[in-house]
Amino acid sequence: MTGIDSPRRSIAVAITGASGALYARPGRWALLERGCHLELVISDYGRRLLRDELGERAAVDKLQDYLVAAYGPGVQNGSYTLHSNKDLGAKIASGSQDCEGMVVVPCSMKTLAGIAHGLSRNLVERAADVMLKERHPLVIVPRETPMSLPQLRNMVLCAEAGAVVLPAMPAFYQMPKSLEDLADFIAGKILAALGFRHDLYPSWKG
Ligand SMILES: Cc1cc2nc3c(=O)[nH]c(=O)nc-3n(C[C@H](O)[C@H](O)[C@H](O)COP(=O)(O)O)c2cc1C
Repeated sequence: MTGIDSPRRSIAVAITGASGALYARPGRWALLERGCHLELVISDYGRRLLRDELGERAAVDKLQDYLVAAYGPGVQNGSYTLHSNKDLGAKIASGSQDCEGMVVVPCSMKTLAGIAHGLSRNLVERAADVMLKERHPLVIVPRETPMSLPQLRNMVLCAEAGAVVLPAMPAFYQMPKSLEDLADFIAGKILAALGFRHDLYPSWKG
């Protein structure tokens, strides 16, 4: 834990075009319920995968309603700003901002490559680059299988640069009963990596 559990934390959340849009859902809810402000960026393929995998009700323009319907009004404790992935002038493109951590969930292999090589071709990549250069927590949740050698090397580059590489690999020891339980496991890991306590899955008692 980093001890950064103070109110009104600002966290960047990026959703890119890898399968596993569901993995982004409980984490966004949990951060909003804790009163965080989310700086949200969704790539074009991220938008497509939200709709393809979660349905029309999860489309970007309905995100707040969708989360309230899924989890209840606690979502409204927090707030969010939705940025265009093309807007390299957005707040989170600069190091002089108060965003203290970022998660890319799910992270496509393309975006992983862009982050690994510091390309900053769009706002997701630039904001991730800012997190690395400012030494703020950056959590990358890749989803691909099997992986090529370039993809594996890109994960190593990100880890060497200081990112937490947290593959979308849910565990089964907590006896999941639903897809939501699997997504909660990954969301809990993300929250822990960002310095939040959570009860999204039962802690292992030994
Ligand atoms: C239905 C669908 C599923 C995809 N699943 C994955 C995936 O699981 N992992 C991945 O790395 N790319 C996946 N892709 C490919 C990416 O969406 C593609 O490389 C895209 O250019 C990523 O761009 P972005 O990172 O800007 O979102 C998928 C594409 C589609 C259309």
